[in-house]
Amino acid sequence: MIPVRVINYKCIGKIGVIAIDHPPLNVLAHVVRKQLLDTINAAQHDNSAALVLYCTGKTFIAGADINEFDSEPVEPTLRTLFAGIIHSKKIIVAAMHGTALGGGLELALCCHYRCAQPASKMGFPEVKLGLLPGAGGTQRLPRLVGVQMALDMMLKGHTITAAQAMQHNLIDRIVKEDLPQAALAYTQELLDHCQPLRLVHNIEMHSPSTSFFTTYRKKIARQTQGYFSPSKIIDCVEDACTLSFAEGIKNERKRFMQCVVSPQSGALRHLFFAQRHARKISHLLSPPPTPRSITSVGIIGGGTMGSGISTCFLSAGFPVTLLELEQDILARGVRTIQTNYERGIAKGKVTEAHKKECMQRLITTTDYAHLAECDLIIEAVFENLDIKKKVFTRLDALCKPDAILASNTSYQNIDQIAAATRRPQDVLGMHFFSPAHIMQLLEVVQGKETAPDILATIMTIAKKIKKIPVVAQVCFGFIGNRMFEPYLAQMHLCLLEGALPEQIDQAMEKWGMAMGPCAVGDLAGLDIGYKMREGLSAEQKNEARIFSLSDHLVSMGRLGRKSQAGFYLYDAQNKRRSDPEVTRLIESESEKYGMKRRSINDDEIQRRLVYALINEGAYILGENIAQRSSDIDLVYVYGYGFPPYRGGPMYYADQIGIKKIYAGMKELSEQDPLWRPAPLLKELAESNRSFANYRRSD
Ligand code: NAI
Repeated sequence: MIPVRVINYKCIGKIGVIAIDHPPLNVLAHVVRKQLLDTINAAQHDNSAALVLYCTGKTFIAGADINEFDSEPVEPTLRTLFAGIIHSKKIIVAAMHGTALGGGLELALCCHYRCAQPASKMGFPEVKLGLLPGAGGTQRLPRLVGVQMALDMMLKGHTITAAQAMQHNLIDRIVKEDLPQAALAYTQELLDHCQPLRLVHNIEMHSPSTSFFTTYRKKIARQTQGYFSPSKIIDCVEDACTLSFAEGIKNERKRFMQCVVSPQSGALRHLFFAQRHARKISHLLSPPPTPRSITSVGIIGGGTMGSGISTCFLSAGFPVTLLELEQDILARGVRTIQTNYERGIAKGKVTEAHKKECMQRLITTTDYAHLAECDLIIEAVFENLDIKKKVFTRLDALCKPDAILASNTSYQNIDQIAAATRRPQDVLGMHFFSPAHIMQLLEVVQGKETAPDILATIMTIAKKIKKIPVVAQVCFGFIGNRMFEPYLAQMHLCLLEGALPEQIDQAMEKWGMAMGPCAVGDLAGLDIGYKMREGLSAEQKNEARIFSLSDHLVSMGRLGRKSQAGFYLYDAQNKRRSDPEVTRLIESESEKYGMKRRSINDDEIQRRLVYALINEGAYILGENIAQRSSDIDLVYVYGYGFPPYRGGPMYYADQIGIKKIYAGMKELSEQDPLWRPAPLLKELAESNRSFANYRRSD
């Protein structure tokens, strides 16, 4: 078979122009490396005086091919290709547009000169995949931009703009006209001025003081806690300061390989692919429905969630009509949106101009009639089914046909909400997480009657508002909150059996959770669960009696952070400290249940809480509430602070082995009937399969 041509080459005047044409992202797959190297080698012998390397399509090379990390490297590897560039006898100019990432940026660093279009961005996102730039990037970048900037770029994994790149010497020229013409003019200029073959590895390193790295390591210790690759990146940059380039490269290679085979990188790469898969709605694939056009958004309720959701849509460029019951509550909602932007400005993430532009798109009202022309309306009123049904009946009466009606409910039944309208096909759940303008997860809840094109529309909108959408079917609590219940039940049981809030939180935080469950309860407000339980049936209430401790705290006015007391006491800075009164309450609850308190170790706490998540996840998967196990992983990592480097609860279970998990679960169920191992766990354990290779039966 003749390989597809992904590299085009032609001479324009004295300059050889190499165009990479490998859509959509021009990644450095084997076919690109091979043809590119052949082209560069051949160009050494033609009449060209210099070479320009650019990409067609929407971006410069956006990285290496991640799929290749799991297999043996095939020649020419990145390193072989880069050696070809470095040994070129002719100047090679990299001309960037779009996003030059990872291996793409490493390639540009091997070229003799770099130019970029003003809107282009550059970065090394490897750390997000548990890796490091492994083809010389850790040695070249600090030589160009300095140690501090190089560390910041590689440890945060963020992109920088062309202007920042110019300021820090990462590129040599910002070119305003189209590529490749602009790059040709720049290259001609280099030739006219007889510029040398300039290679980054020959630039002298400016090493910082000896204490720099110790201080830097301390500074970032908290944010990189539990992660493997950041410390390896720092080691590499330290080498760049102390060793020769060749030795630095050798060590970088060794560390890169350690990262590639680390379980962490496996988990992070799993999450990367999980995000791609989540957008695929398997049961709606053929024929793919055409999304509806959304140009204006209405939000009902300007409380915690409504104001966050408004911020989200405003930031993405949508005009938003925010509706509240009364003017003064509306004004409070607007202030919250303003504060959201001001916090962003204080952190340097948002500009004053952006805030102004977004606030200008905000329309406020107390009159439902103003929602009539909105394409998408999201309800975020009190968590009460009757109130929500009334809101939807009202929307049905006034909204234009084809408008999408969404609810941000955490627990209520979307089908019942949809039934309050004459257009259930236009209704679905859009479950945001708090704070809605920051948290990346969006559960998209498909009702029994939700039309496929609605679902497709919301998946598209999710991308525009920079969310990770995960489709869930209707059930109490959908994916995330449903799994959270047994997790919290185990927390309460551990408390009753002998643990204290600080021990549970510390154990779970040590395990990697962003926040322990007692602290999460205090942050969200213990009254939320209390109110939710109030609405349960008698039978459900009986099952939920294990939560009596939390309910007790609520009845004492200890709602969590908002009342400066919950499981903990809080000072003005929200710093938590334990409270003997809570200890006494827990002990008396234990007594009430006739439980003899015992010492529980961290290992048991971690195992019980994590197993609770896995077990409910297995129920959810078995009932087809989630499409695939990786969707559940996304929910937990991006909505509930599950450590990304463990890949999510289902991925974690697969790594441990389902057989082992099931055996452990059976053992727990023999001690406590509250444990009901999911049928799917049994099925997978007995057939030696994993969550990852389980497919829905329909
Ligand atoms: P909130 O109490 O902060 O805000 C609700 C707002 O809705 C209030 O400002 C109220 O004046 C307004 N409202 C009530 N009835 C209304 C009506 N008929 N028309 C217009 N406005 C009305 O509540 P929050 O926390 O923002 O929750 C809203 C929804 O979002 C609930 O369904 C909740 O379960 C859900 N949710 C809450 C999360 C959280 O962490 N707070 C997370 C995810 C979902």
